[in-house]
Amino acid sequence: MQVVVVEKGNVHVEGGPCVVLADFEDGGLTGGALITPEDQAALQTLKEQGRISSKAQSVYYLPTPTRTYAGVLVLGLGDKDRFEAEVFRRSAGKAAAVLSEQRISKVVFDSSPDFPLPMEAFIEGIMLAQYSFTKYKAEADNPPVYVENIVVSAPTSEAVAELQEGCDRTILTCESVEWSRDLCNTAPNDLTPSTLAYHAETMAEEVGCDCEILDEDKMGDLGMDALLGVSKGGAEPAKLIILEYAHEEATRTLALVGKGLTFDTGGISIKPAAGMHEMKYDMCGGAAVLGAMRAIVLLQPKINVVCVVPSSENKTGADAQVPGDIVRAYNGKTIEVHNTDAEGRLILADALAYTVDTYTPDEMIDAATLTGAVISGLGHYAAGVMTTDDDLMAELQLAANATGERIWPLPLWDDYADLMKGTHADLCNIGPPGEAGTVTAGCFLKEFVGDTPWAHVDIAGTAWGVKNVSYLNPDHATGYGVRLFAQWVLDEAMRGE
Ligand code: BES
Ligand code: MN
Ligand code: ZN
Repeated sequence: MQVVVVEKGNVHVEGGPCVVLADFEDGGLTGGALITPEDQAALQTLKEQGRISSKAQSVYYLPTPTRTYAGVLVLGLGDKDRFEAEVFRRSAGKAAAVLSEQRISKVVFDSSPDFPLPMEAFIEGIMLAQYSFTKYKAEADNPPVYVENIVVSAPTSEAVAELQEGCDRTILTCESVEWSRDLCNTAPNDLTPSTLAYHAETMAEEVGCDCEILDEDKMGDLGMDALLGVSKGGAEPAKLIILEYAHEEATRTLALVGKGLTFDTGGISIKPAAGMHEMKYDMCGGAAVLGAMRAIVLLQPKINVVCVVPSSENKTGADAQVPGDIVRAYNGKTIEVHNTDAEGRLILADALAYTVDTYTPDEMIDAATLTGAVISGLGHYAAGVMTTDDDLMAELQLAANATGERIWPLPLWDDYADLMKGTHADLCNIGPPGEAGTVTAGCFLKEFVGDTPWAHVDIAGTAWGVKNVSYLNPDHATGYGVRLFAQWVLDEAMRGE
């Protein structure tokens, strides 16, 4: 994707691009300076006749084969008072579908200086909507055409540079989302802990940050028996993937930790067959923080970031752990494994404790497809967030508002933590069935973060299976979290001390 920002007045429409106009219910068409008076009049008439709706996410395409532009796309944005970036993102997602049908690869956004729009959201909507995953498909006879060129205008020459920077940031971030989604969609026979580590290492080399992979021997020496207990049931060895980004002027360190379970059969507490294939997505938390890291390193914020991904399979091999096993985690706490399917918290326990101990981060976030219960509570439209720190919650909320990656708070009260006490060990890895499964999982993780300000983001609902969001294909992983966490880190760097 290439986005060029041009000062208003210097925008030309030649070479058959599609001109895009924004349309509000209460304000009418904005822009229009780039199209002929005849086309302006035609659109006005169509609007008066009610054939162009101005509702959010409505799209009208007027072919103009005799002009220097191929057509005009009218993008409904709804009520001006209710407008927000997410409305624009979703309308752009709808536009992407129409533009693809029309086989258009160039777009000129004809904006009005009277109502400046957050163009980054438009680019995001287009880029995320255009994501495809064809690695395993035969080559198409008639491959789809994608938008590859977008021209947007800025009101003044000073505004050009700033908007160009914003758009370039958006492109890099969306490319990182694509990178992350590719990992998530990859089949589990191709994406093992070793290949995930390889992809992380290759990416780190490409963008320029340090990468270290701890193998099972090393993890054994370190005492990570909670993670290794999960890995015992699979033939593929577990890995602990660590990426480090340091900025010379940084005074603070943030940590991003993500669950990288490359396939979750449930282990001996095996899952039902129906839908089990979706458990290839159990590494989406890891892919999200790695994708965020990719964007962060490319954007070079003034802050240090460490990214840690515990990666393992959860299978039923001869040596698989069984219900009743007791393991000792990195921080010395013992855990009674009553359900081998509650494995995410086990691998995260060691990763979180190790991250705190090794890097003493100022703030830490983990992302994990941790509980089915979060889908019962919030469906696919928000991640559940639990935190020990109200400031961190507020920071995350700002990043969520900016990116449209929604979060919703859940509590970590001691009443819930009490449900996770073990009979013969310090902790049990499950709480009472049917009771606050997302919260009890969060309380379990809290035992491994010490005093570090920390937030746990349960993305089991948002990582895949999202329907009716125009820019997200429901058959693909969403890449949820890449934009949220990158935004949070960039904001934190800007906020400084
Ligand atoms: N990876 C699953 C959580 C999950 C389930 C994500 C369905 C997305 C869709 C996790 O490892 C798991 O199996 N959790 C159990 C925990 C239970 C045994 C306490 C769950 O949610 O059922
Ligand atoms: Mn599980
Ligand atoms: Zn799992």
